[in-house]
Amino acid sequence: MSQRGLVILGSTGSIGRSTLDVVDRHPGAFRIEALAARSSVELLLEQYRKYHPRYLCIVDSAQERVLRSQIGHEKVEILCGEAALISLAGLSDADIVVNAVVGAAGLRASLETIRHQKILALANKESLVTGGPLFAPLLEQGKAQVFPIDSEHSAIWQAMMSGRREEVRKLLLTSSGGPFRTLPADRFGDITVDQALNHPTWKMGPKITIDSATLANKGLEVIEAVTLFGVSAEVIEVVIHPQSIVHSMVEFIDSSVVAQMSLPDMRLPITYALFWPRRVQSEFGRIDWSRPLTMTFETPDMEKFPLLATAFDVARTGGTAPAIFNAANEVAVEGFLAGTLRFVEIADIIRRTLDAVSMIGRPELDDILRADQVARQLAREHMEKIAC
Ligand SMILES: NC(=O)c1ccc[n+]([C@@H]2O[C@H](COP(=O)([O-])OP(=O)(O)OC[C@H]3O[C@@H](n4cnc5c(N)ncnc54)[C@H](OP(=O)(O)O)[C@@H]3O)[C@@H](O)[C@H]2O)c1
Repeated sequence: MSQRGLVILGSTGSIGRSTLDVVDRHPGAFRIEALAARSSVELLLEQYRKYHPRYLCIVDSAQERVLRSQIGHEKVEILCGEAALISLAGLSDADIVVNAVVGAAGLRASLETIRHQKILALANKESLVTGGPLFAPLLEQGKAQVFPIDSEHSAIWQAMMSGRREEVRKLLLTSSGGPFRTLPADRFGDITVDQALNHPTWKMGPKITIDSATLANKGLEVIEAVTLFGVSAEVIEVVIHPQSIVHSMVEFIDSSVVAQMSLPDMRLPITYALFWPRRVQSEFGRIDWSRPLTMTFETPDMEKFPLLATAFDVARTGGTAPAIFNAANEVAVEGFLAGTLRFVEIADIIRRTLDAVSMIGRPELDDILRADQVARQLAREHMEKIAC
């Protein structure tokens, strides 16, 4: 395989760093064209010194001066701001754009990647959640190459190759159940930020870790799967699997179930996306079959985790509903992490925001961006009322 140019958006985050670890393990396979972050200037500088990309981008303008002062006259183009980050998706020497930005902030860069007919290695699930109506027709017509990095969607992508699209009966999305799977419902009112950040099987960035504790993450993944695989929400079932060994499954019409398994390590789906259609030697994620291995599966408790049921409703509604759900969730999670909202109030904020914002069935990009802004504003207002 010839060397491929990589752009990594969100290189300083959990997925961004894991992607660079994969790059390190395959010397000569990739050339880093560009790295981008929001504000982690020190880590971005460290990455620059190691990978020497042609472009460096920092979204937060307050950090641009620091970046420039540290780099001086070296051969790298320094860019700043959101529009600059999006423009990296169109670099002529880039073959693959890894979108590892967190939140709806990643949407436009994903669309730009598709517009330039590049491979989108996608961790930023919020792109497919908020931009579903824009991506769905492109995926359907084969005009977009989106290779999922989310482990569940990577598993389904791999399992789908065992049969034809019309032979699929169910997509079974697995979930660890998060840290509160066994916590009684009457103790949810006392959940602290530290407890919610303590995920039992995965080490991830703070936003997705909280989403995994509320199961909003699984809800976002349901919506992501609807767009990515072109199925209705009815085809998707969530299965709680606390060991996080089976990353998801596909049930075919002959009742065969095909699963993808490994130890939980995001470098595995990242490697799969970067090298597809090849598989390459990897040391991580290997199961030791000589030791006893217990795997359990159960149905989710939708009453304890109401956001999962809400996400299914939102997936059925479509249009701008997923963008509203996502925006309210981002605001509520920020509020919870900042200590202004209780864990159980995250779902209230989202429900109230969904009830208050009018939806558009067939939105254009501007409609989606407007719905996102209005939902954020309303979610903040609801949060302020709760805090009073
Ligand atoms: N972590 C996982 O294991 C995992 C698994 C599956 C899917 N995902 C998905 O992957 C995405 C990234 O997750 P993560 O856990 O890696 O998050 P993270 O650790 O918080 O990293 C987020 C990255 O995005 C950058 N960023 C944040 N806000 C930005 C903005 N407004 N514009 C541009 N860049 C911005 C951050 O820069 P700074 O460092 O400067 O803030 C950082 O580089 C999310 O969509 C998540 O749902 C993650």
